[in-house]
Amino acid sequence: MLGRDIRKGLIKVGKFLITGGTPLEGEIKVSGAKNAALPIITAALLADSPSRLLDIPNLRDVTNLCDIIEKMGAKVERKGHEVIINPADLNKFEADHELARKLRASYYILGVLLARNGTARTSLPGGCNIGNRPIDLHLKGFKALGAEVRLDHGIVEVKANKLKGERIYLDYPSVGATINIMLAATKAEGKTIIENAAREPEIVDLANYLTVMGAKIKGVGTDIIKIEGIKSLKGAEHRIIPDRIEAGTYMMAAALTRGNVFVKNVLAEHVKPLIAKLHEMGVEIDEQISGVNVKNRGRLKAVDIKTLPYPGFPTDLQSQMMVLLTQADGTSLVIETVWENRFMHVDELKRMGADIKIDGHSALIKPSHLTGAEVTATDLRAGAALILAGLIAQGDTEIRESYHIERGYENIEKKLQGIGARIRKVEE
Ligand code: UD1
Repeated sequence: MLGRDIRKGLIKVGKFLITGGTPLEGEIKVSGAKNAALPIITAALLADSPSRLLDIPNLRDVTNLCDIIEKMGAKVERKGHEVIINPADLNKFEADHELARKLRASYYILGVLLARNGTARTSLPGGCNIGNRPIDLHLKGFKALGAEVRLDHGIVEVKANKLKGERIYLDYPSVGATINIMLAATKAEGKTIIENAAREPEIVDLANYLTVMGAKIKGVGTDIIKIEGIKSLKGAEHRIIPDRIEAGTYMMAAALTRGNVFVKNVLAEHVKPLIAKLHEMGVEIDEQISGVNVKNRGRLKAVDIKTLPYPGFPTDLQSQMMVLLTQADGTSLVIETVWENRFMHVDELKRMGADIKIDGHSALIKPSHLTGAEVTATDLRAGAALILAGLIAQGDTEIRESYHIERGYENIEKKLQGIGARIRKVEE
């Protein structure tokens, strides 16, 4: 899929060139959260009137999603980080298959259109290749609400004459399933209760937006969410929360390069598990209202990490953390419990001299001296980890397939240049 887009010139093939060894100093600003923006843009289609969304990051996933909903008849106006969505003329209930395959979050169309029109079709979603990415829990939720679900040759179709609120237990607190069921339930008749729901801040942000639109939702941020369906929702204005994964990546960049960086526009409570680990490692953190200052002048101590659903340590920061651990004194253990294929960065880090041994879902990391190399970004966060490695490595690092990184980090090279990193992007 991506190969074809690259050949057609739809995706520019670029690479990042980094010369390591500079301590990062200054202020870096975090953008709005991609994983909150995507469901919220889709949720705008639930309303009868326009919504104005602020702090929407300029990322390819966002552009693809906006293109999908425009092709379905919605009007989308984008100005910088502001997006105005008018869903009044939505007349197509099927997402463009090629576009839908490009981003995981395209499946939120299913929950929204099921609630709005009782029918939706899309191709099975894409996104990062970090493991088997089933949607059985989403479909289980839709069926419980009374929908018929058909899966045929990679196309998902959902249909319902009427959705009725139900009690739904999720076998795993899936972020996507919690969101999709919440979206569908906003207009279902009666009360829906989602048990073992995910608690990620992006879900809380979506619920806050839905509430301003008129939805009746209680319990978000806990593992039991209650939704009382209502007949209609109105458009609303909403500002997206800061991206905690982007913030965490820059916080680690500061610690790694023995720098002193104010990471602006981050809610400290969203990055608590990372702050706790950085403290254990000996990094100085100063939590302020508008951001977090990260300073590291000394040696780092080894720590162990286990990825878990929120509020545990986020899987989306695991690969970046592994780079930090290569610079710590002692042996660290990383256990990945969320995705089964999330150690793809390890082979690339080994090319740069990292001493990491994988055993199933665990990785043992010993201290190592990293040197520049030619490496490839295999997925979004793996690519971010390679940027961090490049910042500390001796000599020059070339990271191919930069488009993976650009799916989730807005202007990463310009932002890092602003705090002294020697990084540039070359398009081919
Ligand atoms: C979201 C994030 C992603 C992050 C992940 C976990 C978006 C667009 N992406 O992905 O960056 O890594 O949360 O924090 O928000 N699962 C099932 N059946 C399902 C759904 C999920 O078994 O129907 C499993 C998955 O295989 C995985 C685990 O649940 O092992 C977590 O998936 P989930 O929380 O749904 O992640 P996403 O919403 O896809």
